[in-house]
Amino acid sequence: MVAVTINALHELKKHDKKFPVITAYDASFSRLAHNAGIDVILVGDSLGNVVQGHDSTIPVTMGNMIYHTEAVRRGSAKSFVIADLPFMAFSSEAQTLDHSALLIQAGANMVKLEGGAWLCNTVQMLSERGIPICGHLGLTPQSVHKLSGNKVQGRGEEATEKIIQDALRLEEAGVDLLVLECVPSTLGSKLTAALNIPIIGIGAGADTDAQVLVVYDMLGLSPSIPTFCKNFLEDTDNIEAALKSYAEDVRSGRFPGPEHTFS
Ligand code: KIV
Repeated sequence: MVAVTINALHELKKHDKKFPVITAYDASFSRLAHNAGIDVILVGDSLGNVVQGHDSTIPVTMGNMIYHTEAVRRGSAKSFVIADLPFMAFSSEAQTLDHSALLIQAGANMVKLEGGAWLCNTVQMLSERGIPICGHLGLTPQSVHKLSGNKVQGRGEEATEKIIQDALRLEEAGVDLLVLECVPSTLGSKLTAALNIPIIGIGAGADTDAQVLVVYDMLGLSPSIPTFCKNFLEDTDNIEAALKSYAEDVRSGRFPGPEHTFS
């Protein structure tokens, strides 16, 4: 396999080819994802929920993220690995640079940070120093308390416009990819058309350039599976086949279906 690059992912968008992304937190799932043809892996701070058993991502530390990023990298040498900067790990430019460097040294190809246009200076600073960045808009779980819970975002004209403006400014500042979480599918479509960078949707409708799911959710291992997710293990008897079926369904546009989208 040829290593995945940012340029290759941008080319997929240009040619209207959708790609699958999956979370992984250890070497075994990273290897299984690679074997299933999924070569963009997110070491998400969702590990706070699904691995550590917390009720939010807030307790996750930089130490945790480094440990899991190293494990994921060991499982698949050539996958494109995106690692989350956890809660309050990007509060100042100097802190963000130090923490991003640690994640890249741990094996990540790119760091992800949650938030809107207020991050533009930080994004520009990282980008100028050669650190690839994934933005994250819509539902941003690190802000669960400010948002009064993990709810669909971007409903109504003002909220829609705010997310679009944030996304345009982040793109201008230098983000290379953008995760869009839990928004109406109409907003997912609009944003995908408005931006040149690939949009990775999760609960953002069928029209985004890529989809990402939390691996424990799509294997039915989480206590409750979000409505935008599908249990891909239900129709097969092994994890690799479930991951393959997810990858095929994203590439063909079969997933997400209307039952997995928000209006
Ligand atoms: O932490 C994570 O797994 C994420 C995805 C839900 C996009 O940020």
